[in-house]
Amino acid sequence: MTPRSLADYKHLAERRLPRFLFEYVEAGSYLEQTRLANRRDLAGIGLRQRVLRDVSRIDMSATVLGHHLPFPVALAPVGMAGMMARRGEVQAARAAREIGVPFTLSSASCCRVEEVGAASGGGPFWFQLYMLKDRGYMASLLTRAREAGCTALLVTVDLPCLGARYRDYRSGISNDPWPVRIARMAGQVLPRPHWLWNVGLRGRPHTLGNIADGVERGASLARVMGFMQANLENAAGWNIIDWLRRHWDGPIVVKGVLDAEDAREAVRGGADGIVVSNHGGRQLDGVPSTARALPAIADAVGGELTVLVDGGVRTGLDVARMLALGAEGVLIGRAWAYPLAAQGQRGVAHMLGLLRDELRVAMALTGATRIAELTRTSLLQS
Ligand SMILES: Cc1cc2nc3c(=O)[nH]c(=O)nc-3n(C[C@H](O)[C@H](O)[C@H](O)COP(=O)(O)O)c2cc1C
Repeated sequence: MTPRSLADYKHLAERRLPRFLFEYVEAGSYLEQTRLANRRDLAGIGLRQRVLRDVSRIDMSATVLGHHLPFPVALAPVGMAGMMARRGEVQAARAAREIGVPFTLSSASCCRVEEVGAASGGGPFWFQLYMLKDRGYMASLLTRAREAGCTALLVTVDLPCLGARYRDYRSGISNDPWPVRIARMAGQVLPRPHWLWNVGLRGRPHTLGNIADGVERGASLARVMGFMQANLENAAGWNIIDWLRRHWDGPIVVKGVLDAEDAREAVRGGADGIVVSNHGGRQLDGVPSTARALPAIADAVGGELTVLVDGGVRTGLDVARMLALGAEGVLIGRAWAYPLAAQGQRGVAHMLGLLRDELRVAMALTGATRIAELTRTSLLQS
């Protein structure tokens, strides 16, 4: 089957990945109400069709955090993407470079930041940092990211503790004692020989390249995950931006803001940007969808820092909706993880091309010839 849409890629990913990995990507927390709301609220926003306007020349380019982009989309950090395809983060970074959009490397990636930096070949390359108690280790990660060529830092603040993902319990990736877990995972890997050979055996995805050094060289995935969970920072305040500033001289973007008052704190704290995000519905279930939270936040701080958003974006039409609601740039998570699992670099590049083409259609039919012309007047008032 030649994939024509994200739904096709998701279908292929489901056939290719061992079940626990597919569920890991798809999962939201608890009853998954926020994960579902991200999609439902975004898809429910009507675009306002306008006709007989000169849309023969459409300029989708935009400057985001100092990068001139062909269209304002970036790849969000997705932990353990190296489990989706062989050297998965490297493949996705190459696809992003091909299309000219930023790739954000998760600190919980399988591939080390140095390896991905080399693959991103001078294209826009951002680094995501989880807040860990061990400040010395955070500082050393920031040094590595800078030396590997990362230009912007996304610091994720919505993970002082972990929301429970029941799918991970059911699939066997969490909670069971190790021998049971290994047995259950093996039972799901064996029916996926393509993944076992290409990714499991030849891809060396068994550890988290950036974090592992803080534990011990070659530490197992279980040890590294245990280290991370035990080290999640839950005592930081907004002055953390001052600390980051001393260790990072590029833009600092706070990822995981969902409230206008927190967005104002980010401005007061000196952040260069925020990502309006609920972690793809993977942390606190019951918080609003990002499409609902975004307008008030953009009204409160737009123009004072860069407002980015993620959550439920699956098409270029969704990108148009988020831009019209007030975002300056849009991050995609699952929408690159599925094509990566299905077809590696080729799939991610194709998916990004689809988003770009769909965005162009959305602009043409809402009568926008520049990104700045996508505003709330491009939407139907409900
Ligand atoms: C499988 C998976 C892993 C993720 N890992 C991280 C991570 O390591 N760091 C982070 O800040 N966000 C992480 N996120 C959240 C994404 O960066 C992003 O906020 C979310 O995926 C956006 O929602 P969407 O998947 O509906 O586009 C992850 C999301 C998924 C689906």
